[in-house]
Amino acid sequence: MTQPVAETSPRSRSPIRRASPLVTMLTAALPLFALAGSDRQEPDRPGETGQPGGHIPSRMRAIVYTEYGPPDVLELRDVETPVLNDHQVLIKVRAAAANPLDWHYMRGTPYFMRVTGTGFLRPKDTRLGVDLAGQVEAVGRNVTRFKPGDEVFGTGGGAFARYARASEKKLALKPANITFEQAAAVPVAALSALQGLRDKGKLQPGQKVLINGASGGVGTFAVQIARVLGADVTGVCSTRNLEMVRSLGAHQVIDYTREDFTQSGQRYDLILDCVGNQPLLPFRRALNPGGICVIIGGGGPNDGRWLGPLPRMVRALLLARFASQRFVLLLAEIRQDDLTFLGDLMQSGQVTPVIDRSFPLSQVPDAIRYLEKGHARGKVIITPGPADDASPVSAGPAGTSANALGPGLVVLGLVALVVVPVAAALALDRRFRRRNPGKRPFRWGYYFSILSVIAGLALGVLLEPGVGASIVCGVVYAVLAWFFARRHHWAWITLTILSFNPVAWIVNAIYLWKRRAEDSGVMPAV
Ligand SMILES: NC(=O)c1ccc[n+]([C@@H]2O[C@H](COP(=O)([O-])OP(=O)(O)OC[C@H]3O[C@@H](n4cnc5c(N)ncnc54)[C@H](OP(=O)(O)O)[C@@H]3O)[C@@H](O)[C@H]2O)c1
Repeated sequence: MTQPVAETSPRSRSPIRRASPLVTMLTAALPLFALAGSDRQEPDRPGETGQPGGHIPSRMRAIVYTEYGPPDVLELRDVETPVLNDHQVLIKVRAAAANPLDWHYMRGTPYFMRVTGTGFLRPKDTRLGVDLAGQVEAVGRNVTRFKPGDEVFGTGGGAFARYARASEKKLALKPANITFEQAAAVPVAALSALQGLRDKGKLQPGQKVLINGASGGVGTFAVQIARVLGADVTGVCSTRNLEMVRSLGAHQVIDYTREDFTQSGQRYDLILDCVGNQPLLPFRRALNPGGICVIIGGGGPNDGRWLGPLPRMVRALLLARFASQRFVLLLAEIRQDDLTFLGDLMQSGQVTPVIDRSFPLSQVPDAIRYLEKGHARGKVIITPGPADDASPVSAGPAGTSANALGPGLVVLGLVALVVVPVAAALALDRRFRRRNPGKRPFRWGYYFSILSVIAGLALGVLLEPGVGASIVCGVVYAVLAWFFARRHHWAWITLTILSFNPVAWIVNAIYLWKRRAEDSGVMPAV
């Protein structure tokens, strides 16, 4: 978790300490995508316990994706039922919930998150889904809190499946009076609402809180939890959702299609921003002196594909230095005690999850498409059924043939990567020597530059199908290569780093070191 942005004093600190909030903010977005990452990437270990056996089938149906992209990349496949390590629980998924987090993983956006371990060109973890509710089917050797037959909810890895595994620390017992669908709706959304209001927002009874995006997954929980915490609640939503938000307990509702809450003259002690579509500066007008704005939301699939919420976070950080109000970033944590607390609120009827639509497992792509539009009313639920235990159809790795490189493509690739750049580099080199007699030739420099441009274009294509990204990458690399060809060392170093090629890093580091030694008349030690 990051520290609240405005909690650090800017004075009397070393440059490193001074930079640390910025670093914290920048790295903050990494756990945002790693919110459930520990579940997603938890590896199988040798000596596992709780392997499927007895009544648990060895295969099941699950949503799988092997490349980043729109919901079309999601496929329903037969896969092996997960095996457990000593601390994990195998759950028969009765319901899962879709979160914006899922389409971030599916699209691999913002792109910078790919360097955080999700997989640079392809997803490392091919399974999707985090929120789940279901029955415990098997437990690892060291699991003490749960036993087979328990009904639980929480987060796990690959929840869009018939079976999923989860750490016992990220589960809680499901209250008997709520359905699996309702329980699955809770984890990420309700934890974000609770931790945003209580921990980051420090909401006190009697305070005024405004929830921007009150009709969405997080917002519908936030309205109800803010009421439980004794606040005066204002919900912002569109016309069609006004009644629903009021019925959840909002004292006032604002229709964002008719009124801008930052212009209304009303001031709040806390703003919970679940939308992330507005500049932060106007929020100051709607905050009391000393008020807090908790930033939860970060826009839709077409917003900030390169850096996502980072620029907004940095702006919040800068703003916090000049304002009496505080701008704080929320990164929800999956905490068992909070799950249990939310379970109690549901048990007592103080919080009731709002479910918009349910989709069968086979329609997860439609569910994600719907969520991506950004107008869900409450939560979007996935319900695996008995048909998803295993299937005689769709076994095997679909899509492999589409991804396999034919021999023709391999030859074309070799020509593009070797023959053309070498020929072009030799021609450029000849021209250079003709025009600059006596100067050091530059053959491989040209080769490297041309390769860089090709790599840039390829990178763009791989990051995202379509011309936009490849043109941007190609132009960036071409500009660098142009400066490099004019013997600017900084461009060479940048290109080397951006080659994402450890061999190039090492070779060029050695070369640079030797050149420096030659220039200073000192031979390198090796
Ligand atoms: N930081 C974290 O740890 C964390 C955790 C969970 C979620 N999040 C982020 O929080 C955001 C919200 O998540 P969610 O699950 O609530 O998403 P969601 O269910 O898709 O919420 C969409 C809601 O936003 C409302 N909305 C759209 N434009 C609006 C506007 N201009 N003003 C007010 N409301 C507007 C929509 O209402 P209408 O249909 O009425 O327009 C809809 O109900 C996402 O960006 C997500 O990535 C962050």
